[in-house]
Amino acid sequence: MKVLVTGGAGFIGSHVVDLLVHDGRDVVVLDNLDPQVHGAEADEPAWLRRHTDAGAVAFHRGDVRDRKAVESALAGVDTVVHLAAAVGVGQSMYEPDYYTSVNDHGQGVVMAAMLADPSRYSRFVVASSMSIYGEGAYRCAEDGLVFPRVRVAAQLERGEWELRCPDCGGSLQPALTGEGKPAEATSVYAITKKTQEDLALCVGDAYGLPTVALRFFNTYGSRQALSNPYTGVAAIFLGRLMNGRPPMIFEDGLQTRDLIHVSDVARSVLRAIDADVQGSGTYNVCTGRPISVLDVARTLAERLDVDVAPDVVGRSRTGDIRHCIGDPARARADLAFEAATTLEEGLDELIAWSLDQTAEDRVDDSMRALTSRGLVR
Ligand SMILES: NC(=O)c1ccc[n+]([C@@H]2O[C@H](COP(=O)([O-])OP(=O)(O)OC[C@H]3O[C@@H](n4cnc5c(N)ncnc54)[C@H](O)[C@@H]3O)[C@@H](O)[C@H]2O)c1
Ligand SMILES: [Zn+2]
Repeated sequence: MKVLVTGGAGFIGSHVVDLLVHDGRDVVVLDNLDPQVHGAEADEPAWLRRHTDAGAVAFHRGDVRDRKAVESALAGVDTVVHLAAAVGVGQSMYEPDYYTSVNDHGQGVVMAAMLADPSRYSRFVVASSMSIYGEGAYRCAEDGLVFPRVRVAAQLERGEWELRCPDCGGSLQPALTGEGKPAEATSVYAITKKTQEDLALCVGDAYGLPTVALRFFNTYGSRQALSNPYTGVAAIFLGRLMNGRPPMIFEDGLQTRDLIHVSDVARSVLRAIDADVQGSGTYNVCTGRPISVLDVARTLAERLDVDVAPDVVGRSRTGDIRHCIGDPARARADLAFEAATTLEEGLDELIAWSLDQTAEDRVDDSMRALTSRGLVR
C-alpha cells in the first residue's frame, strides 16, 4: 500500500504521516508549504526531514492545483488522503477567490488526476469539517430535536447569545449533532468544505471508489500554527498566553465546542483507510463532549500555571455558532473509531510542544482586518 497525503506537512497531516510511517506504510506527501502556515522562508519541517532522510516518506513540494505536480505525486499510489486546504474561516470571508481555488478547484485537480486510472485506488479520504453544520442540533421540551438557523445580526447586536426554538420560540438545550443534520454553511470556508465533500462522494460513487469524508471537529495539539490567528481556539489562546496577554473571548464565553486532540484525528484517518466500509460516507470525527470556550482558556492557564484571566470582550463575529457537539456514534459503528484523549492530556501535549516554539501574537491584526470589514460587531 502506498498512501499520498496532500497537505501532509500541515498540522493534522503531520500526525497522519507519523502514524502511517509508524505503521510501516509507504507515504508520499504533496504540500506547497503555504507561507501563512509554514512561514515566508519555509523549508521542509524538521520532523518531515527525519522521515525523508530515513527513506520513509517521499516529499513533493507542489500545489494541489498543479496537475503535473499531482500526477507525479500519485505515481504508484493506491490510497489518497486529501488534507491540503486553506483553513481560515474569518479570512475566507475576504479572500473567497483563494479559498474556492485551493479547496474546490484543488480537489477537482486531484480527482481528475485520479480518474486517469480510477480502478487503481482502494480509498479516497477527504477532510471535511464540522463547520458545514452551522449551528449544532438542539432539543426543545415541546418540539423535540430541532435545527435552528445561525443567529441573525439583530440578535447578536442585542447580546442574546443563546438560540431559541424555531417552532415555538422556547428555550433550547444543545443536543449531539449527527451526520443527518442538514448543512448550513455560514462562511466561504464552510461552503468550500461542503463542496469538497459533495464532489468527493459524487465522483466516488460514480466510479465505485470507496470514499470517506471525515468531518473533523475542532482539532488541537502539537504542531498547530500558534501564530495564525485564523486557526483553532486552543492554539490562539495559548499563543496569547505565551505572549503574556489574555485570551480574547467573544460573546460571554459560554459557547461550547467539541475539541478533539490531533492524535485522535490522525487515528480516525487510519481507520477511514482500513475500515471495511461499503460505498461512500460521511463521518463525524469528534468526542461528543462539550467544553465552553471560557473553560478552554481557564484550563490552559491552569495547566500553564499562569494567572491571566481571559478577556471576555462581549463582541461577536458574523457566522459564529453558539454550540456544536458531534455525535460520535456512526464513526464508532462503521469505522471502529473512538476519541481517547482527555482535554487535560491533550492540552498538556500541546503545551509541552509549545515550550520551544515562539508564537507571534497576530490577534490584533486579525481583529483589525475583520473589524474594518464589518465582520466583528
Ligand atoms: N484543524 C482543524 O480544527 C480542522 C477542522 C476541520 C477540518 N480541518 C481540515 O483538515 C485539513 C488539514 O487542516 P490543518 O488544520 O492541518 O491545516 P494546516 O494549514 O496546518 O495544513 C494544511 C496544509 O496544506 C498545505 N496547503 C495549503 N494550500 C495548498 C496547496 N494549494 N497545495 C498544496 N498544499 C497546500 C499547507 O501548506 C499545509 O501544510 C484541512 O482540509 C482542513 O480544512 C481542520
Ligand atoms: Zn419548541
